[in-house]
Amino acid sequence: MPQIFTATADTRLRAALLVAGLAVAGAGLFAGGYMDSSYATMVGWVQDQPVPFSHQHHVGGLGIDCRYCHTGVETSPQAGLPPTHVCMTCHSQVWTGAPVLAPVRESLASGQPIPWRRVARVPDYVYFNHAIHIDRGVPCVTCHGRVDQMPLLSRAQPFQMGWCLECHRDPAPHLRPPDQVTRMDWSDWDRHPEEHAFYGLDYVKAHGIEPARLDDCGICHR
Ligand code: HEC
Ligand code: HEC
Ligand code: HEC
Ligand code: HEC
Ligand code: HEC
Repeated sequence: MPQIFTATADTRLRAALLVAGLAVAGAGLFAGGYMDSSYATMVGWVQDQPVPFSHQHHVGGLGIDCRYCHTGVETSPQAGLPPTHVCMTCHSQVWTGAPVLAPVRESLASGQPIPWRRVARVPDYVYFNHAIHIDRGVPCVTCHGRVDQMPLLSRAQPFQMGWCLECHRDPAPHLRPPDQVTRMDWSDWDRHPEEHAFYGLDYVKAHGIEPARLDDCGICHR
């Protein structure tokens, strides 16, 4: 009968404990880096969509304005996703029989919306409102990136609390005339940075925007 405790068993036990210890330390490191990693924030991730809808093609190429499809963005908290008949205003004429558009035709026939996978989202306990931001001249591109260059849409910003607060504490540099918010390539102020800074500061004053108030917890957690 073999001995229960061999000479090497003790060594093996130590080795096992060491491995376990390293695993715990590793998990700590992992968790530390995790909150900022793209795994947690999903920045840059694309979703497998039922139809490979391309913003690059429709916005960058065809020049369709965001508000044509995201009709709620100026008037309500949600931007909204386009109902199928909006696609069909064009796709009853172009690419009519295309296999990639089969789910669009099925959706129109059945009345069931296309089941898009969401990429831009905050948790339910966070209150966000598009209309307020658009009305104040916060551009889409600041929060959603160059969607006109995205063949498949991905998240451009982490949407974590620190990111919201960074702007809320000093919104001036991000603001532009509200009628320019959907322009992706708006670069006038790149050539005149001093004008941009003045505009933002003037705007903040003229509209009584109070950065000090904008980091109250109750603004986003109601
Ligand atoms: C204002 C017109 C218009 C609207 C609205 C529109 N499309 Fe298109 N779409 C086009 C045109 C034009 C093409 C073909 C472009 C080409 O071949 O150069 C196209 C191409 C496509 C393609 C083929 C792949 C690609 O990007 O080339 C898909 C998929 C597509 N559209 C999906 C949609 C969906 C889904 C909607 C609704 C959310 C929609 N489209 C709304 C005009 C439109
Ligand atoms: C022709 C219609 C159309 C136009 C124009 C359009 N979009 Fe979209 N958008 C869609 C569709 C359809 C989806 C859902 C599929 C996807 O995520 O690509 C979407 C999704 C999005 C999403 C991700 C929403 C989520 O949580 O999944 C963002 C952000 C977005 N669009 C921003 C924009 C911006 C900014 C513009 C203007 C620069 C714009 N879109 C123009 C049709 C459009
Ligand atoms: C200040 C940042 C910010 C700006 C500016 C902004 N968005 Fe968003 N957007 C968000 C956040 C945050 C979400 C996720 C909201 C949620 O989960 O309720 C979102 C979600 C969306 C969605 C998902 C569907 C929905 O109903 O909300 C679309 C589409 C969208 N945005 C389009 C736009 C367009 C188009 C513009 C410009 C006209 C724009 N956004 C401007 C931050 C922004
Ligand atoms: C790039 C700048 C910017 C970013 C990023 C941003 N905001 Fe804002 N937010 C503003 C501005 C400007 C206002 C308007 C303030 C005003 O009118 O006094 C505002 C207002 C708001 C309001 C309404 C406040 C009120 O008056 O009750 C809410 C809610 C809000 N933001 C939530 C969010 C959340 C949640 C995020 C992150 C997901 C976010 N914001 C990201 C600039 C930004
Ligand atoms: C400008 C908007 C905004 C303000 C103001 C804000 N939060 Fe948040 N908060 C968020 C967002 C967005 C998230 C979601 C973060 C995520 O998904 O990673 C969040 C998440 C949280 C969470 C969940 C845990 C976490 O960190 O992810 C707690 C707790 C929290 N906030 C507490 C507070 C407190 C306390 C205050 C006031 C000192 C505050 N928040 C002010 C936007 C805000």
